[in-house]
Amino acid sequence: MKIAGGIPLKGVIKAQGAKNAALPVMAACLLLRGGELALDNVPDLYDINTMNELLSALGVVIEKNADHVVFKVPDELSYEAPENLVRKMRASSLVLGPLLARCGRAVLPLPGGCSIGSRPIDLHLKGLKQMGAEIEIKDGVVYASTRGRLRGRRIYLDFPSVGATENLMMAAALATGETIIENIAREPEIDNLADTLKCLGIQVELDGAGGVRIRGNDQASSGSCRVIPDRIEACTYILAGVMTGGEITVNDIIPAHIDSTLAKLEEAGARFKVRRNSVIVYPVKRLKAVSLKTMPFPGFPTDSQPQMAAALSLAKGVSMVEESVFQARFLYAQELNRMGADIKISKDVAIINGVEKLHGARVRATDLRAGAALIIAGLAAGGETYVEDMVHVWRGYEAIDEKLRSLGAQVELA
Ligand code: EPZ
Repeated sequence: MKIAGGIPLKGVIKAQGAKNAALPVMAACLLLRGGELALDNVPDLYDINTMNELLSALGVVIEKNADHVVFKVPDELSYEAPENLVRKMRASSLVLGPLLARCGRAVLPLPGGCSIGSRPIDLHLKGLKQMGAEIEIKDGVVYASTRGRLRGRRIYLDFPSVGATENLMMAAALATGETIIENIAREPEIDNLADTLKCLGIQVELDGAGGVRIRGNDQASSGSCRVIPDRIEACTYILAGVMTGGEITVNDIIPAHIDSTLAKLEEAGARFKVRRNSVIVYPVKRLKAVSLKTMPFPGFPTDSQPQMAAALSLAKGVSMVEESVFQARFLYAQELNRMGADIKISKDVAIINGVEKLHGARVRATDLRAGAALIIAGLAAGGETYVEDMVHVWRGYEAIDEKLRSLGAQVELA
């Protein structure tokens, strides 16, 4: 993407459906046997297409009509996830729980790591074993099976892993008796999955304090649900507005989902108004340096860390950004430094010495959120920026070039 920087963004855009809510909610359709799941507000993204390919490979018939998608699940499903699709997207591991619960078997090639760190699924497998699954790993492939239904029980997650929470909730949906999972992830995407399971006739009760209680059923029934707005995409555009000194409105969001990011932005001197389902950003001269540590929800989200660091690279003063969720989520820093930023990495902390200006450069997206950080830096920088390897960005940002152009940005796909 070629970006002519230095133009304050102006205008109104709408947040897309949340990628990280849609992926588990789509996988939940596998719990059905001869039923249908209808979803609204499904974003049009590479990762969503990959999940559609995976579900189709397992036997699901998918009818897409813009952001309304219907998943028709036959009586018989394959339970082997194709290696090429699992390697393409780590979130493919979310079919493990529902497939095992529904078919009594599942074969899943281990998802690869990616540029933000090794991505084990040990917590997923540990929980499934506790529910009675037999798990064997051979040549990098997980063979899971269960004689009869999985058994409900109390599970304590060593870490509030988003994916492990989602896989175990879906497995519990068809288990016998009651499953109580403690120390679960509290991201809004978990609530969206809970609502979807309820739409499929499953009794789910989140206690709002890191626990969930699920009463398993011997089968799930057809239903429909809506995907929540994408809080990370929304904050990316809010930060683009802040960095370019523009005035933009982001609609169709749930402000409570972005409290921690807005609080940090307020601390840094950004000016904005929060409405019932939108945020309006106003221009400020320059942010003040702030420090932050990424944490599981409701803490500052790791998925907004690169974008926030890009904004802080122009702040007045030295900011400390600590990444506590992933092992290595700072690959974007060296690319920002090519644009004139002054960022040093020491272990899991980025020390950002704010500069007055960034200048355009040829930079490379190393992963989804790093790519987003480079794009918003390019919008604020003087001169032209070329962001390469946009394939990472298309995984999670629907029509980002069109959305930015609608805000007055001069961007084009070279
Ligand atoms: C989800 O990934 C998101 N992906 C990620 O968003 C997000 O960064 C992450 O949650 C944290 O919020 C989707 O929802 C599809 P985790 P997930 O399990 O489920 C370790 C994006 O940019 N861990 O909460 O993989 C793991 O290595 C993506 O949209 C284990 O050690 O996140 C990591 O360090 C990137 N063992 C930490 O926990 C396990 O069994 C958080 O992982 C599972 C996880």
